[in-house]
Amino acid sequence: MNTLVPLAASAPGIAALRVEDAKDLPVRGRTVVVNTGARPAVVDESPVKSIPPFSSTILVDTRIRLADSLILLRVDESAAAADVVSGPGWNLYASLLGDAPAPAPDSPGPAFPRDTPLWRGPQDGAGTVLLDPAAALGEPDPTGRQEEFEVRVNLWFAPAGTDCAIHNLHDFIEVHTQVLGIGRMQKFRTPDHGSLYEDLLMAPGYTTPQPFCATGPDGTFTYPWHQYHADTDCVWLAVEYHRRTNR
Ligand SMILES: [Fe+2]
Repeated sequence: MNTLVPLAASAPGIAALRVEDAKDLPVRGRTVVVNTGARPAVVDESPVKSIPPFSSTILVDTRIRLADSLILLRVDESAAAADVVSGPGWNLYASLLGDAPAPAPDSPGPAFPRDTPLWRGPQDGAGTVLLDPAAALGEPDPTGRQEEFEVRVNLWFAPAGTDCAIHNLHDFIEVHTQVLGIGRMQKFRTPDHGSLYEDLLMAPGYTTPQPFCATGPDGTFTYPWHQYHADTDCVWLAVEYHRRTNR
């Protein structure tokens, strides 16, 4: 019970762990807790409150009464964010793209600007979750049909002042959790910084509320133009939900 599985999606100063079917799970010290399950994760305090799906918080010396699936990040907050890229499996994102026409981060779309100092850490599978995507995305007409999604997680790093490239294509549901530094997720009307229409400031422990996408035709997901912007040196966690069910 309460088996904590270390993840490769870690870095110097950041230990990532996964736990499934948590029951009376002690949280020792200060920990970023990300709920990657489909149901609220219940925190064992009074009044009893929960961490909703697709969200996170920082818990300190407490207990989680019940949770389907969590990522725990134990962070050395005194560490320099830029040190994470010295960890195993970290690469400059542009170098991962090679010479091929480059998509935006992890998706087809506009060419990724190769001089962007965006770094990606190793990605891990983090179990599966059953979701009705329309319900999970807060849409008015959920199908009531549960589909299986594979959860994948990795850390990213960008230095202060980095625009991490505006993009709008993903074949998965994504959310982002701030780990170190102050950054923001931004939405745009067009792939142009001047068309900004939403600016979500992110401090450590915060996950942008509700995924940005809507369900699209043929099981696709429709995203607005969006990007991550690093105000300071930043580390953040991407959580991706990849559909496994044949439609
Ligand atoms: Fe994205």
